Amino acid sequence: METRLKEVLAIVNQKGGVGKTTTVQSLAVALMRHCKSWRVLVIDLDPQGDLSKLMHWDAEFGDRPTVTDALADEGGMLPIYKSDRGVYYVPSSKELQNIEPKMMDQMKYLHPYLLLRQRLLGKIEDCTGEGITSIPEWFDYVLIDCSPALSMCTYNAMGAASGLLIPVQMEGLSVDGIGSIIVEMAQMQQGLNPKLQLRGLLPVMVDARPNIVKGFISYLRTAYGDNVTQTTIPRSVKINEAQTKKQDIYEYKQWSPAACAYESLVKELFD
Ligand SMILES: Nc1ncnc2c1ncn2[C@@H]1O[C@H](COP(=O)(O)OP(=O)(O)OP(=O)(O)O)[C@@H](O)[C@H]1O
Ligand SMILES: [Mg+2]
Repeated sequence: METRLKEVLAIVNQKGGVGKTTTVQSLAVALMRHCKSWRVLVIDLDPQGDLSKLMHWDAEFGDRPTVTDALADEGGMLPIYKSDRGVYYVPSSKELQNIEPKMMDQMKYLHPYLLLRQRLLGKIEDCTGEGITSIPEWFDYVLIDCSPALSMCTYNAMGAASGLLIPVQMEGLSVDGIGSIIVEMAQMQQGLNPKLQLRGLLPVMVDARPNIVKGFISYLRTAYGDNVTQTTIPRSVKINEAQTKKQDIYEYKQWSPAACAYESLVKELFD
């Protein structure tokens, strides 16, 4: 079989609550709506497990394998499940927060930042019954949701990705924090992952205070030029309402401005 995989996108920001998980959830469905034949896999690399919960993964189910199992041992395989919305996913578990020593143990044979990349390209565990053979052969897009930290898991996301998408809230501290991610990305590009590209700084939760927001966006464009996406994601209570119901924005309000904005982002980044 041929490779279908077009892009592995890591959604990164060490700041908490900036819309990383929401962006992964919404973008996954927006990609599938954009092209019905595209298959999308999301990977939850955050021990909080927010994305897994949105996929209706139930941690109480017990022994089923997660991304933690895949990364903990040398022969680990990514376990792939499918949500009722048709999004494929690899869930996380709270034990992921204690994984770093186990990653370091594998240093004998592989750099500890490259474990996820190796698992993405290697044998997987198909928990869907659909006969998934390998990630590059089965999926068109992989989206990785990171925790709010520059942790070993986040470096693994950068080591596995072909592109980074950085959601940025239009606030002073958020905008200030971008520099450190760019520095880490540049180090990855110079060393472990020369193919890594910055795919965009995505202004999110953009609210209706035109002057302040315009100021931040024009500052971002001055500092980062075309790396700032043309698309901005508006602040919308519909996002909260949808997630409270464990729905995505298309299931809840497909014509809402936030839903349309994520569709525009797909056109901008992937057309
Ligand atoms: N465009 C939006 N408008 C309004 N609320 C939003 C929007 N995007 C995200 N939110 C809300 O903001 C909160 C944080 O979003 P989210 O969980 O996606 O951030 P995160 O960066 O993944 O957080 P963490 O760093 O904790 O993983 C959530 O309650 C979410 O519903
Ligand atoms: Mg999150």
